[in-house]
Amino acid sequence: MAEDTRSGGFRDWLKSRLQDWAMRKVDPLRPEVLAPASGEVLEIGFGTGLNLEHYPEGVSRVVGLDPLAAASFPKLRERIAGVGFAVERHSLRADRGLPFDAGRFDTVVTTWTLCTIPEPGPALREMARVLKPGGRYLFIEHGRAPETSTARWQDRIDPLWSRYLGDGCHMNRPIDRLVEGGGFRLASLDRFRHDGPALLAHMYRGVAEREG
Ligand SMILES: C[S@@+](CC[C@H](N)C(=O)[O-])C[C@H]1O[C@@H](n2cnc3c(N)ncnc32)[C@H](O)[C@@H]1O
Repeated sequence: MAEDTRSGGFRDWLKSRLQDWAMRKVDPLRPEVLAPASGEVLEIGFGTGLNLEHYPEGVSRVVGLDPLAAASFPKLRERIAGVGFAVERHSLRADRGLPFDAGRFDTVVTTWTLCTIPEPGPALREMARVLKPGGRYLFIEHGRAPETSTARWQDRIDPLWSRYLGDGCHMNRPIDRLVEGGGFRLASLDRFRHDGPALLAHMYRGVAEREG
């Protein structure tokens, strides 16, 4: 594992554990998203490594990027030790430029991360830059609901949610438009309502390719 230089205090200790507990609830949705992954994978918003066990056999390395100070979280270490491919973790933000060569990765992955990245546009453009021509961006994200009334409630509540409860998560982002505006062409998109509160349960699951 690449060295995590962030010290982490009680807040980080608690945040890793709470996030891990909350994000395990969507585990059943992970395998289908990750099934097409292959070769060298860049996972943005790597979190506590919950995707690791779901990567298919053709994956040779996962490079995980996340500002979360989770390196000392025992379950993350166990998950990394439990897979048969190399794992590298970088404590970095994706919206400040990625320290990788253009066209390096066969697959780029985000799962429930575009909601939280403060500047998703620059992050997506960087993800498109480091994806190989012909490579795939695989994602599942929650976002803006298709029903006007729900979307209006998302707009009303989002400022409070993102600031005080959601730890920077925005509930009303139009994920498909963000992905297309970030240098990708959508090859497939599946939108569906998952379990849980309507404001947070509208899912966007898709595969995108680099434009051009
Ligand atoms: C809701 S969690 C999802 C974690 C993981 N992808 C999963 O499926 O369990 C969102 C993650 O995005 C990370 N994140 C927030 N801002 C980020 C940024 N600027 N660049 C990369 N990751 C970021 C958070 O630290 C957090 O781990």
